[in-house]
Amino acid sequence: MINPELKPKVTELLDKMVLRSKHNIGIWDGSFPDYYDRRQKKWYMNGYWTEAFWPGIMWWLYLYSRDPFLRDTAEYMSKRIAAEKIDLKDHDLGFLFNCSCVLGYTLTGSSEFKEVAIKAADRLSRRFNPRGNFIPAHGDVEHGDRRGYTIIDTIMNLRLLFWAHRMTGEQCFYDVGLKTAETILHANVRNDGSTYQVIWFDPDSGKIEGPGVHQGYNADSCWSRGQAWGIYGFSWLYRQTGDERFKEAAVRLANFFLRHLPEDKIAYYDLLDPRIPNVERDSSASSIAVAGLLILASSGKGLERYKWFVQAEELLTALVKNSSDHLDSTVEGGLLPHGCYFLSKDRGVDSELGFGDYYLVEALLRYYMFGILD
Ligand code: GLY
Ligand code: GLY
Repeated sequence: MINPELKPKVTELLDKMVLRSKHNIGIWDGSFPDYYDRRQKKWYMNGYWTEAFWPGIMWWLYLYSRDPFLRDTAEYMSKRIAAEKIDLKDHDLGFLFNCSCVLGYTLTGSSEFKEVAIKAADRLSRRFNPRGNFIPAHGDVEHGDRRGYTIIDTIMNLRLLFWAHRMTGEQCFYDVGLKTAETILHANVRNDGSTYQVIWFDPDSGKIEGPGVHQGYNADSCWSRGQAWGIYGFSWLYRQTGDERFKEAAVRLANFFLRHLPEDKIAYYDLLDPRIPNVERDSSASSIAVAGLLILASSGKGLERYKWFVQAEELLTALVKNSSDHLDSTVEGGLLPHGCYFLSKDRGVDSELGFGDYYLVEALLRYYMFGILD
């Protein structure tokens, strides 16, 4: 521990999060929250790819608190994800099954969770296009105009494949995960350590057609959440494979991200938006990045470990203060304020986002259990 004042603040915040989450379970009444819009003071529900972040939060908070109510809720919501999402034609099978059934299996040993998560991994791996070594993000992979559409976000979904490889020994999961990761490294990462969110491929020849724009400012800018998915994704890939190329990528992306953070450490929605500082922030980018930096720190050796741990602590200190003040001053809503889901669609602006909340909780647990948690 480098900053002795942070640890008690982390446990204090986790206690507050347990209380807020138990309160929220009553409000949601069995449906899946997507985000809380602070401007409208309203929960938006059922966001298809975001739904497992809430059972995920329950699993992590159960690990912290050992509260059986949180465990029961996590179990119930994870079973619903298993039943309702297994047929989804989407790369986000990774987020959906990692944060529900894989976490559930890890904490409870349930064979039901294990089997359905392996099935989800199998379906994800079947999206792979071997001509271009990529996984299309959305839709049917045989027909339609999205067969060549890829986004950096997919890097997070590869984790399900490596997990399935560990569980089954089937090489195909590892190969699809590794090849897709190599493609993302080659296609989405720019020389200066920034990233493209979207890359279009010709699905028949497998050749890259070029970058596109989805959530960021434009095709040449750097959408901060995409950059954060990359930091977390490459850090985790390095941990998983020991491949130095992924560590080098994680470090380059992290350096770019940290260089473009404002003083209060809450990322702008797009790191290269020319309108900065008069643009929205996305706190979820900072919470995803800090969880990734803690993985990078725990995978490093000696001074390298120290360096990334200190960077993570600095970011986490800012997020802990934001979230703690927010939970003290509000009675409704999520856990981390000032997220921005999709700026150009005016969706979830200045909101508490399921994924922002989830990665803050994960980061708090990674910090709290540093050296213990894999
Ligand atoms: N994966 C979609 C997003 O981050 O909004
Ligand atoms: N924001 C949804 C997606 O395109 O992944």
